[in-house]
Amino acid sequence: MDIEAEIRALQLDSAGMTDEVDTKSQPVQAEPKVKDKEVADMDCAEVPDEMESQKKRHLNVVFIGHVDAGKSTTGGQILFLSGQVDDRTIQKYEKEAKDKSRESWYMAYIMDTNEEERVKGKTVEVGRAQFETETTRFTILDAPGHKSYVPNMISGASQADIGVLVISARKGEFETGYERGGQTREHVQLAKTLGVSKLLVVVNKMDDHTVNWSKERYDEIESKMVPFLRSSGYNVKKDVQLLPISGLVGTNMKTRVDKNICPWWNGPCLFEALDSVEIPVRDPKGPYRMPVIDKFKDMGTVVMGKVESGSICEGDSLLVMPNKAPVKVLAVYCDEDKVRRAGPGENLRVRLSGIEEEDISSGFVLSSVVKPIPAVTEFTAQLQILELLENAIFTAGYKAVLHIHSVVEECEIVELLQQIDPKTKKPMKKKVLFVKNGAVVVCRIQVNSLICIEKFSDFPQLGRFTLRTEGKTIAVGKVTDLPSRSSA
Ligand code: GTP
Ligand code: MG
Repeated sequence: MDIEAEIRALQLDSAGMTDEVDTKSQPVQAEPKVKDKEVADMDCAEVPDEMESQKKRHLNVVFIGHVDAGKSTTGGQILFLSGQVDDRTIQKYEKEAKDKSRESWYMAYIMDTNEEERVKGKTVEVGRAQFETETTRFTILDAPGHKSYVPNMISGASQADIGVLVISARKGEFETGYERGGQTREHVQLAKTLGVSKLLVVVNKMDDHTVNWSKERYDEIESKMVPFLRSSGYNVKKDVQLLPISGLVGTNMKTRVDKNICPWWNGPCLFEALDSVEIPVRDPKGPYRMPVIDKFKDMGTVVMGKVESGSICEGDSLLVMPNKAPVKVLAVYCDEDKVRRAGPGENLRVRLSGIEEEDISSGFVLSSVVKPIPAVTEFTAQLQILELLENAIFTAGYKAVLHIHSVVEECEIVELLQQIDPKTKKPMKKKVLFVKNGAVVVCRIQVNSLICIEKFSDFPQLGRFTLRTEGKTIAVGKVTDLPSRSSA
């Protein structure tokens, strides 16, 4: 098989996906037979479970961090170490990278598949790939670090359960990423807001000549990152783990680093750490919610997204919200496989009947009929202001771009209701007209068209959001209240 095709087959980026459905894994699927239909019409919970029990657990991992920290290189190395990329391909990439005067980028080429990314040495689109360890099937989402592509990073992080935060230990590089305005900070704050509940922080480039596996440098980075991660809302004891690696050389990744190279590290290697991450709690019996990330035409209308709650079965009747369009599930695909049912946490492609592809946008939610997701044009939220643009005042009339699950929508702050004292967490008495950086404020937010959201207390994944202006994240927030007559 053509080596390039082999690599492409590992990567399910949305552009390539239509071809895959047509040509490989699913040679023209016939409609389910009558017998299958009978099974599919039963409650999902009644469907025989053998397939599920044999399956390994599944985790979506987003790679985040400042530009050039080594996210794609580390992702590529993981695929190489897990035996999915052969030496010949690596040699080919080494040559291609050299021809582009980007010698050291050959490992990143495994994840960075388009020409623009390879020429510039920067990820643009979120790369996707799969790999497995003893216990777990992982989907890697390789986010771009460059500040121009933060919206793509947000979409990657919103699909993830856990994050690998890649930090460069190279002299000067850790510092630029960590500074105000650097993406190390911004990505951490976004990840937390988008529901990435656990972080593995990999201190990368430990092989670099300015680092040389220095314990001092590692400790310095750890001593700065830990308080910052804590202040971003992570429980650093329970939900954060740091470890040193070299993504380029592949050290402390599949096997623990040799004591001759790094005598002071007694902790796990990356694969061990990934293997032992605990899965976030998910409710397979909750009402079905799957925000649509992308859609295309393929023997019907196919939508892509991650199941945030509930389970889906072939034959299910669902609603596409906010349009309230009734649809029927013709087929469900998990990775390349057609499956009868799928539960929360899975990244799926779902073929639907009853709706045209043009009538769906990203940000819509495939939803249960009995308990559809609320659709609103206004909501109340608690916001934490991070960093406003220079001279900007946060007050009624402030306009920003709202990012909530896969929704991206212009919004306006219509009223500031209360300022919260960050120390006591209680509302302050005096009336609030404007706030500054660092403030926590409850306000009313409006959008022009209906969006599907939930209260944070009901569905954290669908009730937390970020506000951005002119390409900068200025606030993170959670939905605290919805109008009592939301159009569900
Ligand atoms: P963006 O996608 O643009 O945000 O960058 P990235 O984080 O994906 O970084 P990428 O993997 O493209 O690597 C950037 C540069 O850092 C390349 O030159 C890599 O060879 C180099 N690099 C990555 N990991 C290591 C490492 O472990 N050691 C050394 N010495 N260099 C590394
Ligand atoms: Mg990259």
